[in-house]
Amino acid sequence: MVIVVGLPGDPGVGSKLASCLGVGYVSVFSKRFPDGEIYLRLPQKVEGSDVLLVQSMYPAQSDRLVELLLALEVLSRYENRVNLLITYLAYARQDREFLIGESVSLKSVVKALTTYEVDVLVTIDAHNPHAIEKAVESGRYLNIVPGEVFAEAISRKYRGREITVVAPDRGALSRAQSIANHLNCGYIAVQKVRDRVTGRVEHIFNSLNSISELAIVVDDIVSTGGTIAGIASYLTSRNIEVVAAISHALLVGDAYERLVKSGVREIYTLQTVPQTSANITYLDIASYLARELRREGVVK
Ligand code: R5P
Repeated sequence: MVIVVGLPGDPGVGSKLASCLGVGYVSVFSKRFPDGEIYLRLPQKVEGSDVLLVQSMYPAQSDRLVELLLALEVLSRYENRVNLLITYLAYARQDREFLIGESVSLKSVVKALTTYEVDVLVTIDAHNPHAIEKAVESGRYLNIVPGEVFAEAISRKYRGREITVVAPDRGALSRAQSIANHLNCGYIAVQKVRDRVTGRVEHIFNSLNSISELAIVVDDIVSTGGTIAGIASYLTSRNIEVVAAISHALLVGDAYERLVKSGVREIYTLQTVPQTSANITYLDIASYLARELRREGVVK
């Protein structure tokens, strides 16, 4: 029998998932020492059960990482089979050495987590699943892309409209494809050029002819909102309506206001990080995840 264990960063997915799976749920006890260090204790009843640990690594990302490592350390001393569901995997964008001497944070984080015996590491729409797969030290890796969840919500509201799904770069094409397949519409990728020193991003639109009157602009993360806002300003100035579908809405600082100002008319996101804005639609992923985890044999 499996028990779902929610870590402090879990935005509430763990308990919903457990009820969809019909299994038990516990959350860990955690506190801070006076100097800021993290203390964590797992409830005794996890001993002897298969465990599905659930965590999300939204800011403060480094604390969320330490919580994961502390929990994995306890479990490594028990006889449990451990699966790990990270609804938002941080440190994933630095997936290669772009400038000489840069640390590839994705590698160090994934390696640190999977030096413990993790049967299956599951992420939701991770930035670069291929790079994660390569970095995994032990066990299996599964990346779940809930295109269907976005498509259902979008088609409920925009049924009958001519839609094109737009990816901000070629790396996001499979994400766009996953939503487009469920919406039964076309998809394209915009060309993205990033200055590796300043971080400044420029988008090049090769052809607007293939974009319909309504563009669903998709991305894995919205952080400052700059990427989506840049594309939305361009499209809305050409009378194309823009709706954003973002897997992980970090919405740092005035990101939401920036998106609205650029003309984005509606934002859909997944409940992979805590809800910080009352103005965007957070889509529940628990029942979809439960189905996928069973189908993939992660939960028997
Ligand atoms: C980058 O490669 C990611 O896929 C996102 O496009 C990026 O993190 C979005 O960041 P921001 O909202 O700050 O433009």
